[in-house]
Amino acid sequence: MPNTELKVLILYGPNLNLTGFREPDLYGKKPLEEIDEMIRLEAENLGIETRILQSNHEGVLIDTIQEHRKWADAIIINPGALTHYSIALRDALTSVRLPVFEVHLSNIYSREEFRHHSVVAPVAVGCIVGCGGYGFVLALHAIKNLVTEVV
Ligand code: DQA
Repeated sequence: MPNTELKVLILYGPNLNLTGFREPDLYGKKPLEEIDEMIRLEAENLGIETRILQSNHEGVLIDTIQEHRKWADAIIINPGALTHYSIALRDALTSVRLPVFEVHLSNIYSREEFRHHSVVAPVAVGCIVGCGGYGFVLALHAIKNLVTEVV
């Protein structure tokens, strides 16, 4: 496969813009810009083109998913708190019929009970939790592996 053939949309939901500052014991001390940098470097190594967006607004995330339905080969998303209740976001993800990976900085299963349930997980190919920003790098590898897998 020629380099940069694979295109991945990376989305962060509400409050992820405060990563590094917000509850660093849970979400890490790395600001989102540094996580972006780590993602971009690894994406380049893997020959993956990325578009990255953070929004505090459910509708903006949904619009972005819809707009990228023809551009993207896969989506990596950390929906933040929307994970736990946004059927609209889940519907947007299923509508575009792209492989989805759900990533959480913290281990949502070791936290409050209301975080144990994800409405996105059942429509995701895979979920990565508790690995901090490195979870996005792992998801890039998973996507590359999935797409280049010889069936
Ligand atoms: C989070 C986990 C969510 O429960 C929370 O609402 C967030 C961040 C994570 O990355 O660990 O905003 O998605």
